Formats: sequence, structure tokens, C-alpha cells
Amino acid sequence: MTVHVPILVEPIVQAMIEALQALPEGTPPHWVVDCTFGGGGHTDAFLKAIAAEPKIAHHKVLGVDQDESAVSRGHERFAKEISGDRLKIVHRRFSELSEEDLAGRSVAYLLADLGFSSDQLEDSERGLSFQSNGPLDMRLDPSRGVSCRDYLFNVTEQELVEILQNLGEERFSRRIAHAIISKRRESAMPKTTRELADLIVHSVPPEARRGRIHAATRTFQALRIVVNQELEELDKLLSRVILFVRPGGRVAIISFHSLEDRKVKQTFKGESDFEQLTKKPIEADEVEVSRNPRSRSAKLRIAERTIPGEPIRKSERKRMGKFS
Ligand SMILES: C[S@@+](CC[C@H](N)C(=O)[O-])C[C@H]1O[C@@H](n2cnc3c(N)ncnc32)[C@H](O)[C@@H]1O
Repeated sequence: MTVHVPILVEPIVQAMIEALQALPEGTPPHWVVDCTFGGGGHTDAFLKAIAAEPKIAHHKVLGVDQDESAVSRGHERFAKEISGDRLKIVHRRFSELSEEDLAGRSVAYLLADLGFSSDQLEDSERGLSFQSNGPLDMRLDPSRGVSCRDYLFNVTEQELVEILQNLGEERFSRRIAHAIISKRRESAMPKTTRELADLIVHSVPPEARRGRIHAATRTFQALRIVVNQELEELDKLLSRVILFVRPGGRVAIISFHSLEDRKVKQTFKGESDFEQLTKKPIEADEVEVSRNPRSRSAKLRIAERTIPGEPIRKSERKRMGKFS
């Protein structure tokens, strides 16, 4: 069972249908790659849209997630589609997607819905949330890398200040970093999410404890991004899409952080092999935000790999423009 609600499904699926429809008649099966399978919400919508249209019904979906439990839940939920050879799901970082995973098929569409899922947030054992108590871990793939606590054992105070400023835009980065490093010196490093959240709350001025968002929100965000090397993963993905996505194929990326969105924007702007179909990012409308508050900060950008010597299909650029 998943509790995750997929975001911006309509434009994402529409752009996928167009990418598949643009393939020449009689073309062999291509992949639609869902790089961040999660609860399978977007994958489910892809499978349904592909099955609904005979001209594109032979194409296949490849789900990728670094979280083994998301992959095994996916295997249960989509057992029929997997045995029918319509879907494959692999446990992988998207930066490590290989030719072998693609089994000789090229990619017509690639989606990355960055960050973490609601399933991961609600699993207290992951240590992603200060709302529930769990070990201070934060890894989306607990089988590799270092936990948040181990990271905090090795970081310098100055590095921590910069991380909290750059990845969390935390105003009280110095106070918070100092409080954490002081605990480390006293051999009293927080072990749980609640202990860390309490430490943060007590390190910021009283008025900051009564703000609209919890005083620990920005620190938790910054630490999650660094523990999971999220910006490095995005850089690697952006530099590798060109290897996989066919000319005429499309890449859709949903980001939740301004640094991520800037990377996506700059890549597609500066990359002569891709043209942005969304000059401005697509955002969730009020109805979606009220149904799914998580969608509030989502920014979707879609780009198309150009076909050498061929201008991008004008009608499509105009059509995508309606979302911008
Ligand atoms: C926002 S959720 C995706 C939700 C999904 N689109 C859905 O509708 O259910 C992000 C997912 O991407 C995975 N993820 C994040 N970074 C990843 C990476 N570098 N490689 C593979 N999976 C990653 C997370 O483990 C998480 O399951």
C-alpha cells in the first residue's frame, strides 16, 4: 500500500503520450523511464495511458528507485503488468542506470520526481521526519552511504553552517550548527529525530519557535539533501540523459528546491541538444495544492531532445506553452 499522491500527473502523462506518438510508425518498443518510482503513482498513470491507445500500446515502462522497499512494494502492486512484460522495476540510483537495464531499447520519455515520497516520510524508521520519533538516519537507501548521525559526527562546524545556509536557507544556521557540534563535544550527539528537533528548537530565538513552519524544518531538509547526495545525483542524471534519451524524446523533471530547479533550467537552456517545452516551470494549481499540500513547491520542467537538422515541432511547443 502507498499513501503517496502523485503530482502534476496530467501534463506529465500528456507529454509522454506525445513523445510516444512522435515515434515513426512500426517502431519497436521504447522505454518510458520513471526514474523515481516511489509509490508507483506516475508509473500507474503511464501504464494506463499507454494501454488506452493501440498505436503506442507496445511501449514499456521501466521503474527505478534507490529504495528497496519501494521496489518490492511495486513488484507486488504491479505483478500483472510485470508478468505481462509491460513493466520492469529495478533497485538502482538513477545516476547508475545502465545499458543493461535498458536491454537495448532506447528511451522515449524520462521522468524524475525528485526527493522523497510520503511513504518514506511516514516510515519513522527512516528518520526523515521530526513529527515522529525515529533513528537519526535519513537515508532513502539505507543499504548504502552514511546515516545523518554519522554525517554529523564527521562534519566541521563551518561546513555544517554552509550546508544549513545553502540547502536549508536557514537563518539561524550558526546557532544550530554550534548547538549540534557542542553536543558532539560533550559526547551527547542526538540519536533520534526528536532529540535533534528538540536541540534545534532550543537553539533558535524564542520568536522563531512560534513561526508558521516548525523550527527544525529547514535543518531537516538540508541534512536530508546532503545525506542522500541529492544535488550530486541530479547533476549526474542531467549529464547522462543525453546518453539514453533518443532524439525527439523528452525529459520531465519535478523539483522541490530552488537549487534543483536552477540546475534543471540551466541544463536545458545551455544544452543545444535539448529544447525546453516549458519556458516557465509548470506548477500545481489551487485545486491540486488543496488536495495535496506537498505539490505546493513542485516545479515541473519538460524538455525535448532535438533531432539534428530538424526544428522542434512548433505546434507542440505552442501547446506546452499553455502550461507555462
Ligand atoms: C517524490 S518520490 C516519487 C513518487 C512517485 N513519482 C509516485 O508517484 O509515487 C521520490 C522517489 O524517488 C526515489 N529517489 C530519490 N532519489 C533517487 C535516486 N537518486 N535514484 C533513485 N531513486 C531515487 C526516492 O527513494 C523516492 O521513492
